[in-house]
Amino acid sequence: MKKNSNPAYIVNGGKPLYGSVKIGGAKNAATKQMVASLLTDDEVKLTNVPQIGDVDATIELLKSLGVKIAHKNDEVIINSKSIKNGDVASALSRKNRIPILLIGPLLHRFGEARIPMLGGCKIGARPVDIHLDGFKKMGAEIIYEEDCYTVKAKELQAAMIELPFPSVGATENLMLAAVRAKGTTTISNAAIEPEIMDTAKLLQSMGAIINLEANRTWVIEGVESLSGAEHNVIHDRIEAASFGITAAITGGEVFVEGAEQDHLLTFLNALRRVGVPFTIKPNGIVFGSAKKYSPITLETDVHPGFMTDWQQPFVMLLTQSDGVSIVHETIFEDRFGYTEALKKMGATIQLHSDCLGSRQCRYQHQNFKHSCIIVGATPLTAAEITIPDLRAGFSYILAALMAKGKSTVTGVEHIERGYENLIEKLKGLGADIKRA
Ligand code: EPZ
Repeated sequence: MKKNSNPAYIVNGGKPLYGSVKIGGAKNAATKQMVASLLTDDEVKLTNVPQIGDVDATIELLKSLGVKIAHKNDEVIINSKSIKNGDVASALSRKNRIPILLIGPLLHRFGEARIPMLGGCKIGARPVDIHLDGFKKMGAEIIYEEDCYTVKAKELQAAMIELPFPSVGATENLMLAAVRAKGTTTISNAAIEPEIMDTAKLLQSMGAIINLEANRTWVIEGVESLSGAEHNVIHDRIEAASFGITAAITGGEVFVEGAEQDHLLTFLNALRRVGVPFTIKPNGIVFGSAKKYSPITLETDVHPGFMTDWQQPFVMLLTQSDGVSIVHETIFEDRFGYTEALKKMGATIQLHSDCLGSRQCRYQHQNFKHSCIIVGATPLTAAEITIPDLRAGFSYILAALMAKGKSTVTGVEHIERGYENLIEKLKGLGADIKRA
């Protein structure tokens, strides 16, 4: 059968969603943990791995380096003993942001890693200076070529590294390097997202000595070698929040199995201020809906703040609040482009380059449209829209589920990188949605 080169989701919106949905493992933990498994010659078994495009891309990448992988349903078993060399740039097309995380494991094995420039969602410039500066502090040399760079270090040395910003990727990268470096590394002003904590747990199971201390500081004592381990990946708190909003937006009620209050505290506070009811259960959270919602002011931040990846579905929810809401995006400078399509569907949204809200961020006076004013409540009308990036994708699905009539959503490859069985899960809640 010929494969459709431009698949679309056809959504007949306007129906309340009811029922129960089970959340998968976290993309941003599972993919990093697959890379962590390259730090040992033994077998690493991961369970609760989500069945998504980014996991497939990571498997493809690791296999192209000679890693042996058995993948069945949510279980991935990785054995890196047969890995051939550290030339990732020749092995791969630019699909996501995982290749840069291979630097540490490959340096420990081969003393050299050749890494391509990165892909991933187009939500800002996304430089990698913080990663590479950290490696330089650990004694690595970096040689730049046109489309890639080579990192060299016979032996990585421990270092005291203070990050200029708590970057998730840079924290993970330096952590993966430090676990087998010589001496004790401290990474301060670091990221402490639950997915990073989960990866630290895997590393500890593999034999690493790794601790999170006060003031966002990871302290890692390098060890000679690591061994195999088994690890169950944490649930995806972005998928959980996204499904939580489906209930509020469509006027229904959805039990999100696997939604963990610990990882959703800030999100749940924001929902409460808007007036979306929710009930915490032992194995998940029930999200409901109300006749009217309140407008709020919101700022994205590093953990434990409001996640930048919750911003897009939340903006969609705020189009249904009565009055003026403000959202200030402080993590990525260009993460509101997706609102154009929501405006086309009837939302009233204005973008601003000033820091609106309670504080100024590093994008102040830089002409990036990183603040957003939403005036609601506005009904939405069905439309043909194209998804620009993964998380914006879910907000478009929400818009289509809410708007009465038939919407056609293209660009679904973005959303399929990060949401597992989305069509089936939404259908299970009573949505009229199909992939064409
Ligand atoms: C991770 O991206 C996630 N991706 C993102 O999720 C998430 O939005 C982000 O963390 C923030 O939580 C993955 O885990 C694969 P950062 P990452 O380094 O690691 C700047 C999704 O949809 N920066 O914390 O790339 C950077 O430009 C994705 O799942 C530098 O300036 O995020 C950004 O403004 C989208 N120099 C900010 O820091 C650097 O060397 C945060 O980036 C590194 C980052």
